[in-house]
Amino acid sequence: MQASIDIHCHIMPGVDDGSPDVETSLKMLKIAEKNGIEHIILTPHHKPMHHNVSPDHNKKYTAGLQEIAIKNGINVKLYSGNEIYYSDETFDELTSGRICTLAGSDYALVEFHPTNPYKAIHNAIYQVQAAGFIPILAHVERYSDMVSHSSYVEELVDMGCYIQVNASSIMGKYGFGISHFTKKLLKNRLVHFVATDAHDTDKRAPLLADCRDFISKKFGQDYSDRLLWNNPMSVIRGEMI
Ligand SMILES: [Fe+2]
Repeated sequence: MQASIDIHCHIMPGVDDGSPDVETSLKMLKIAEKNGIEHIILTPHHKPMHHNVSPDHNKKYTAGLQEIAIKNGINVKLYSGNEIYYSDETFDELTSGRICTLAGSDYALVEFHPTNPYKAIHNAIYQVQAAGFIPILAHVERYSDMVSHSSYVEELVDMGCYIQVNASSIMGKYGFGISHFTKKLLKNRLVHFVATDAHDTDKRAPLLADCRDFISKKFGQDYSDRLLWNNPMSVIRGEMI
């Protein structure tokens, strides 16, 4: 089993549309551990006009779940984070510390509405950088404008944005077209992170093992290690990729 790190996971109980309770989170942790996941960054949604979990509570809940994991003999290390739904507030929220970056680093996981035009995504990524943070675009395969123009992904990478893809998308859960797109990006080394974006124990479980094997076989062990261990570890350590 190859060890992995998951930088995008809705395992924090009772705060968003992810795990509803501690029991589910515990089951998700067990699934993650079986998948070779040794570190997880908890990324509850942070959305405009929503009751978001504050950074203080985020850290408290992460520590609480870590304690429960240890008590249950689960050897997975947990860190605080957010999946930031980009809005006009994001710049101020980031600079004033009202959002959790990934594991306290300068890396910020940012998502958009699936139909947001590329221009809006591009401008938003620039704003995150202007605020002094390093953007990671969450599940790039979900934005229709990006899927139909893969050169846009290249443009974002060129401007210093990092790209995250969901493991389930690579493995074909969202159809051939999406899977094909993610493989094209992998082939062109335009992906920096593969994560679970897990929400539950069933349809959106924290599965990485099969995807990790697939990437190793198809795109090489070295790239697989970078996507699922080295780059995520750089985020946890607050180092440059
Ligand atoms: Fe997510």
